[in-house]
Amino acid sequence: MRFQIYRYDPESDQDPWMQEFELEARPGMMLRDALLKLKEQDETLVFRHSCGEGVCGSDALNINGTNALGCLTPLATLKEPVVVRPVPGMPVIRDLVVDMDQFFSHYRAIKPYLIVDDPEPEVEYRQTPEEREKLDGLYECILCGCCTTQCPSFWWNPEKYRGPAALLQAYRFLADSRDQARAQRLEELEGPFRLFRCHTIMNCTNVCPKGLNPAEAINNIKKMMVKEMF
Ligand code: SF4
Ligand code: SF4
Ligand code: FES
Repeated sequence: MRFQIYRYDPESDQDPWMQEFELEARPGMMLRDALLKLKEQDETLVFRHSCGEGVCGSDALNINGTNALGCLTPLATLKEPVVVRPVPGMPVIRDLVVDMDQFFSHYRAIKPYLIVDDPEPEVEYRQTPEEREKLDGLYECILCGCCTTQCPSFWWNPEKYRGPAALLQAYRFLADSRDQARAQRLEELEGPFRLFRCHTIMNCTNVCPKGLNPAEAINNIKKMMVKEMF
């Protein structure tokens, strides 16, 4: 199988370049397995990965133009040459590794934890099964960044627009019956950029490797805001 892999080492390369590789693909091989084999051919190739199971969220890549996790992408589904680049819209540290600081600062900004004013319960915060069900499709996010880095609104305003991953998590806490900071959370998302830069282009939902729907979560926040704040 033929591959073209994005290479860039800021210490030695003036510009990024594409490196050609060839590999004997085994049946059932995933792109992550292939990258590990390519690294045996050229050990200077750098990429992130860890769990190999779609859990850690560290191997988001742009594969033939679409973001996905290397470990969940079977080679058999890919057209040749397989073109692998870093996810778009993020500064490249080296080769396929991008700087995720901006992404995680948006995540931290939405306060991804329960905020409760009542005195702490002696045992646990209770929820009915129905209330708990409302968090399905929200809590499973692995923060891989496939969605946010495929979102044109984020490319254009990476500092101001929170992006679909952070907004999905904002909704995860807005929808949680135990959280008591709804008004504060909505207020913090007000204005033309943080939430309303989303133009429902749907790239985010189309690429999420966990099958989540950030675009719908964003829409739900917008509806909540209109209902509760205006
Ligand atoms: S729906 Fe919104 S968040 Fe998703 S890709 Fe489009 S603009 Fe970005
Ligand atoms: S919503 Fe999906 S694509 Fe976005 S960060 Fe979470 S798991 Fe990744
Ligand atoms: S290596 Fe952990 S999600 Fe792919």
